[in-house]
Amino acid sequence: MSNPYDEAHAQSLDDPDAFWGAAAEDIHWTRRWDKVLDDSNPPFYRWFAGGELNTCYNAVDRHVEAGRGDQAAVIYDSPVTGDTVRTMTYAELQDQVARFAGVLAAQGVAKGDRVVIYMPMVPETLVAMLGCARLGAVHSVVFGGFAANELAIRIDDAKPKAMVSATCGIEGGRVIEYLPLLNGAIEQASHKPDHCIILERPQAPGGLTSGRDLDWAEAMQGATPHDCVPLAATDPLYILYTSGTTGEPKGVVRDNGGHAVALKWSMKAIYDVDPGEVYWAASDVGWVVGHSYIVYAPLLHGCTTVVYEGKPVGTPDAGAFWRVIADHKVSVMFTAPTAFRAIKREDPEAALLKQYDMSNFKTLFLAGERTDPDTLAWAQTHLERPVIDHWWQTETGWPIASNCLGLHVFPVRPGSPTKAVPGWDVQVVDADAKPVPRGDIGAICCKLPLPPGTLPTLWQNDTRYVESYLEEFPGFYKTADAGYQDEDGYLYIMSRTDDIINVAGHRLSTGGMEEVLAAHPDVAECAVVGVEDQLKGQSPVGFLVLKAGVSRPEGDIVGEAVALMREKIGPVAAFKQAAIVERLPKTRSGKILRGTMQKIADNQEYKAPATIDDPAILDEIEEALIGLGLASARKD
Ligand code: COA
Ligand code: AMP
Repeated sequence: MSNPYDEAHAQSLDDPDAFWGAAAEDIHWTRRWDKVLDDSNPPFYRWFAGGELNTCYNAVDRHVEAGRGDQAAVIYDSPVTGDTVRTMTYAELQDQVARFAGVLAAQGVAKGDRVVIYMPMVPETLVAMLGCARLGAVHSVVFGGFAANELAIRIDDAKPKAMVSATCGIEGGRVIEYLPLLNGAIEQASHKPDHCIILERPQAPGGLTSGRDLDWAEAMQGATPHDCVPLAATDPLYILYTSGTTGEPKGVVRDNGGHAVALKWSMKAIYDVDPGEVYWAASDVGWVVGHSYIVYAPLLHGCTTVVYEGKPVGTPDAGAFWRVIADHKVSVMFTAPTAFRAIKREDPEAALLKQYDMSNFKTLFLAGERTDPDTLAWAQTHLERPVIDHWWQTETGWPIASNCLGLHVFPVRPGSPTKAVPGWDVQVVDADAKPVPRGDIGAICCKLPLPPGTLPTLWQNDTRYVESYLEEFPGFYKTADAGYQDEDGYLYIMSRTDDIINVAGHRLSTGGMEEVLAAHPDVAECAVVGVEDQLKGQSPVGFLVLKAGVSRPEGDIVGEAVALMREKIGPVAAFKQAAIVERLPKTRSGKILRGTMQKIADNQEYKAPATIDDPAILDEIEEALIGLGLASARKD
């Protein structure tokens, strides 16, 4: 029997114009669109062509005008700065954002200019993003755990007119000075921003570069508030870089119109949240989850969003999430399974949970990696609330598969993010792009056109967009995830088909890591694989083959490799383990057998491929992994 989910899903594919046209009525437009879906230039599809709007207006000003001025827009909760809690109402947010847009405009930043934002989890980061959106400047937020080198690569690609940063971030108990990273990145980059606006934090005062840097507080004091600039629906709102298969990140572009429509729609349809409720995504604004569900979606929907500067454990304990939920009356929470594994490890019986009033809490959503059935069961048992795994990617900007609680609640099946969300025609296909039978594993692809809010292209690189996503399976978007669909349409996302690994919900490229290791003067050849990790899901392990004649202590070389990764990619790479080996296992044509190495590390059954050059090498790899405490001796 059909239900509202089935009806919505069918309509979204049969008549996308009617489906998304209706959703677009929830957004304020300064000019109505000419066409809902513009399919005149495939494979480049555009949504709401001809329409004009301002995303910041829809996320902020609109709510003030509708009488929500006194409602909390942002609650900043920061256990790392001495239990700071600060609330910003929609009216205050409007004032701050309008002023910040004025600060940017005074520096010559205008519609279409890029602004790179390298900020910690403070409300000013949201102000900076929305300030850009207000002007039509394109923001590109870079996660604070990336090193100067990664920031420099993004500066050179986005070519920002201005940058916004802070004097520090705080990681648990550690103050991370940002200005040396910022200065290092600007020095390294060929492109130089005209100005940087720096938020001075008491934990790291001073250090601004005179002539280049403006102090945030001073600049805001004298700023002239700037109005919202009407933008084409198809104008870019932001660029967010994500790992590709090489060290060169992909600049995922998000437009204004489709993004606002899809995100606003998702809040009720998927998360079943109403305006005025408190919604908390415990992620970082540097990731897509942060962009979509800390900043834009909750604000577009008139919710209160929580900006949490802390960790699931250690700030101060494994009850931190429950405290935030209780203190701020959070109704829906979104985080990565790894955070729950961290809590479960410290407080297996969830004893701390009993100290908090969870009566407002409705649902937990998890994404960023597959929710393993153990973590799902633990969260369900202790929270006594629905726990919903949902699947998406930086590229898509919002969920591809979920239990859409606002449409119809399906029974949860462990290991599955449930079904394709309306708008998504998800198919599991073989190498010829033909659907495989239900239950068989294949490449998970989405039929074009993708729904609104998804990437229209990569920043100034249409060719890479087509090559990366559209070429391999004609007519489809390739998610690069493999998995299957069961008889009832539930999806199961099993693994990546490329060399991306997922470490603590963070997406990392092993190819990018190999480029870093290969640059070590003593390394002739290397490979990085993602091995199973109880807490983080996966963690990277390096294998190094040294150049002939290198006789330095192996421990020194491994230590240098670890340090090099931290310096070049950043602490987020979480690269801590490497082994030195004589040779790498390869096929006769020279392809490194990373998959086999990973299976050995994870104690999975494996069969050496028939094309292997020399099977004896696998014993050496196994020995090296045992040396790292990873594989246990193979049984014959
Ligand atoms: N700025 C600077 N450094 C950062 C950083 C930031 N914004 N974020 C992380 N790092 C550092 C960490 O301090 C750590 O450094 P270390 O090697 O010196 O200890 C390193 O990067 C690795 O971080 P991470 O992999 O996150 O491990 P962790 O041990 O600090 O924390 C968890 C583990 C599970 C608690 C943590 O990953 C977490 O809370 N994850 C939530 C999931 C999430 O936010 N996912 C995003 C997508 S939803
Ligand atoms: P990112 O672009 O950083 O959000 O990473 C996207 C990738 O994370 C996806 O392609 C998947 O490999 C993985 N991923 C995200 N959410 C899930 C999920 N719910 N289940 C399985 N894998 C997931």
